[in-house]
Amino acid sequence: MNGCEIIKCPYYRDNICINEAEYIDGNDGEPCCPFNPNAILKTEINFTYLMQPSKRYTFEQPKLKQWVELWCRGKVLNLFAGKVRLNVDEARNDIDLSMNADYYWDAFQFVANWKGKKFDTVILDPPYTYRKAKELYNNHLMGQLPRLKNKLLSILNDKARVISLGYDSVGMSTKRGFKKIAICLVCHSGDSKDTIALVEQRIKNTTLNLL
Ligand SMILES: C[S@@+](CC[C@H](N)C(=O)[O-])C[C@H]1O[C@@H](n2cnc3c(N)ncnc32)[C@H](O)[C@@H]1O
Repeated sequence: MNGCEIIKCPYYRDNICINEAEYIDGNDGEPCCPFNPNAILKTEINFTYLMQPSKRYTFEQPKLKQWVELWCRGKVLNLFAGKVRLNVDEARNDIDLSMNADYYWDAFQFVANWKGKKFDTVILDPPYTYRKAKELYNNHLMGQLPRLKNKLLSILNDKARVISLGYDSVGMSTKRGFKKIAICLVCHSGDSKDTIALVEQRIKNTTLNLL
């Protein structure tokens, strides 16, 4: 019995919510009705604040790893996979042959050439700066992130999620048909910059004429 059945919600009929237009479940971002105790307005963003010592490989920070796993759905493409395997159904890509991956493509080439099933979630965790790429990731970097985001649309399912990590919260944005549903700010203490992790849900099947 789910939460809607337990509270005998009048808008939950035949296993379907008929009043989900305005609200999402703050725990998982799924549409729900206002009677769900975790309901938040769709215009709100689920916010989490974490303290984690900075690590070379992002998901060596266990609380952030867990947060990302929580927001993943279905088949996940981890496009800059690095070292740490996630507890989700993931396809792992990294350009560096020494990383723990299933594919070793440049991220743009991977997306442009992917012929398999579309993905339900994509994780974008590239080197955050040119300097970090040089110092930490064997000079491997991702130029032209907007071009990659455009191309990504063709390998995403309709309600797919994109989880972006970095120093900004731009993400896929509304122009590509996405809505921001959750954000996690990670404080690393000392003089390290915070990491921003953003979850966006595809709500429109935008067909920009994309490169
Ligand atoms: C911030 S780390 C990601 C770490 C990973 N999330 C983890 O926790 O282990 C960035 C990764 O992107 C990879 N990378 C850099 N440029 C790339 C590119 N153009 N295509 C694919 N992978 C790239 C690096 O080799 C590095 O492993």
